[in-house]
Amino acid sequence: MGNYFFDTATAFEDLDRVDGKAKVTGQAKYSAEYDMPELAYGVLVGSNISKGTIAAIDTKAAERAPGVLGVITHLNIAKPPGYLSADPSKPAAVRGLKIFDDDIIHFNGQPIALVMADSFERATYAASLVKAQYNKEAFSTDLATAMKEEKPLEGNQYKENVRGEKDAWKNAAVKIEGTYTMPNQVHNPMEMHATIVKWEGDDKITVWEKTQGVKSTQRDIMQAFGLAEKNVQVNTQFVGGGFGAALRTWPHALAAMIGAKKINRPLKLVLTRMQMFTLVGYRPQAIQKIAIGADNEGKLTGMMHEASAVTSNYENFTENIVKMTRQLYACPNVTTRYNLYPVELSTPTWMRGPGEATGSFPLECGMDELSYQLKMDPIELRLKNYADTDPENGKPYSSKFLKEAYQLGADKFGWSDRSPVPGSKMENGWKVGHGMSTGIFGAFRGEAKLSLKLMADGTLLLQTAVSDSGPGTATAMTKIAADAMGLPYSKIKFELGDSSLPPGPTQGGSSSTSTIGAAVSTGCISLQKKLVEAAKSSPVFGHIIAHENFLFQNGEMVLKSDPSRKLPYAEVLKNAGLGSIEFVENSGRNPAMEKYSAYSYAVHFVKVLVHPLTGVVKIAKVVVAGDAGKIVSPKTAESQMIGGVVGGIGGALMEESVIDERYGRWVNNNFADYHVPVHADVPAIEAVFVDKPDPVLNPVGSKGMGEIALIGFAAAVANAVYNATGKRVRELPITPDKLIG
Ligand code: MOS
Repeated sequence: MGNYFFDTATAFEDLDRVDGKAKVTGQAKYSAEYDMPELAYGVLVGSNISKGTIAAIDTKAAERAPGVLGVITHLNIAKPPGYLSADPSKPAAVRGLKIFDDDIIHFNGQPIALVMADSFERATYAASLVKAQYNKEAFSTDLATAMKEEKPLEGNQYKENVRGEKDAWKNAAVKIEGTYTMPNQVHNPMEMHATIVKWEGDDKITVWEKTQGVKSTQRDIMQAFGLAEKNVQVNTQFVGGGFGAALRTWPHALAAMIGAKKINRPLKLVLTRMQMFTLVGYRPQAIQKIAIGADNEGKLTGMMHEASAVTSNYENFTENIVKMTRQLYACPNVTTRYNLYPVELSTPTWMRGPGEATGSFPLECGMDELSYQLKMDPIELRLKNYADTDPENGKPYSSKFLKEAYQLGADKFGWSDRSPVPGSKMENGWKVGHGMSTGIFGAFRGEAKLSLKLMADGTLLLQTAVSDSGPGTATAMTKIAADAMGLPYSKIKFELGDSSLPPGPTQGGSSSTSTIGAAVSTGCISLQKKLVEAAKSSPVFGHIIAHENFLFQNGEMVLKSDPSRKLPYAEVLKNAGLGSIEFVENSGRNPAMEKYSAYSYAVHFVKVLVHPLTGVVKIAKVVVAGDAGKIVSPKTAESQMIGGVVGGIGGALMEESVIDERYGRWVNNNFADYHVPVHADVPAIEAVFVDKPDPVLNPVGSKGMGEIALIGFAAAVANAVYNATGKRVRELPITPDKLIG
């Protein structure tokens, strides 16, 4: 497998990305790129205070501006029925911020008006003419301040959770403790959120929307406007990166739908990058305490992990920040607590490796710190505390090849080159450090319906209503079907991105391959059986008509006992007088999974160079070894892991929200100031896999991969920086100022 971006010398034997050419040649159409007659443009106006109420809003100048078709504010909005709950004891269907619902401001940049015009430029100009006056209230956007001044939210999920004995770590022979800080991180996909809305009458809508789930968006629209499923069409042919930011139907999308209805014209609304920082979520800032105790041999005796994070003042967003500490190691005594503080920011959301990416930072740095205290190799410490069964509930794992991943990664990386003495290695005037960490994420499988159509010419069409935010779902599914049916890739087409297709899952939580792959796998077996049935009367096979007697290869069904007796699928259809074979396969969760725990694992190995004078950290080399079950599509799998590492480099060294506390406003809300890795920041990244099937989760044997690609990476970098310098940086991002002086 290739180790470099754009390594043209590498010969990939496996399937190229089926939509790769369309994407790199600009033929792939993203949600903002559709045009239609009468298309109007919407631009949102944001509040410039962080908390309070709108005292007055003046839209007259905007309404009079050239080309303006309408302006919506809280004063004139026609509220969709989903804003109200028929049963007052239940929440309204529209969750979170109900855009333009009232005069209350919850965060800086909250939309206070939608201006619609016949061109984007005219809408943008008119939006600049909207003026508001506010009654301002005191606010805070900072977690450390909130922790000092406020009490965290109360409720069951915020209670202390004790396994075994509460304070066991305090009595340990060897122990560490530390407080770790990370800032808000923002998804920053290349493609901005975009919505194009076309109403036909009052009760029928078509939406081109950036979403990771066409069906979930369809459901949200049905509930918001009280529409029938058949009257809500959602199209998402291509997604230019999601990382979780497109897992919800956000308020701006509803605004576009409300707006298009008002002006009775199709409407396009595309967020600016500045708006992306406040309107489609972010990974919430967190301050975390970790404490780990062990005996002199390195056996863990107690752990404590307390995480504090922010949410908005109108919605409680929670994620599994402390779960990994309860799961990864066989430790009898674990206490965790999760504190949530509402601040005057918009609601955070899932961002790649949600929860675990945050929680793994203190946990895996803490394990590293403990290894130095014990004078033990960090991998040896982890193996010593390896959980053979789920430490939370004793269940066996459906599969766990983490030991193999440690070994594979260490060998590939050359872990034996690491010096156990911090600051003892130099290369060309740079300090050299090696670090590693473990990442873990639940392996999930959901429900999917898949349409299979075997055509008269022997081509196979697969369809399900999902969207692909980048991992290459259609490619992996094509691979599974090609292997199962013995068809060349060119004879298989996988269609997605259309809510009218049989319902598929939302692309989130690293579950697409597991969920849709199961449907493709069992669907192909059903198709084989239907072919056998159709070939019943064929003289070629005589009376031998049982499925198990056949192979399906090279586009033909072949009799196992006499391979000279075979028929191409197209012939089978023709002989049976069938124009095609069409059916819908239903694939559900696996009830057998109740007896098991299921996780994917990644081990990140990082070599850093740290400049002694300037404190600049260069990532010199990365190896990531994954246990993601069977690797279905090696090339897209490798790309997925490399992409996660690139995201991880940003989180470890660069990404940082800078909020001006005087105004509660983002300062670095653009690509010039919010730093993400560029090519010069990205070294050779090698992704390797144990590649052993999970025998239980799904018939493909795959587990998840999207999240583990990133989880733990920041800790691996921090651990490498410690190894290089002897300095334990507990605050992300690891910028040069934290390493000098
Ligand atoms: Mo992922 S954060 O489930 O898109």
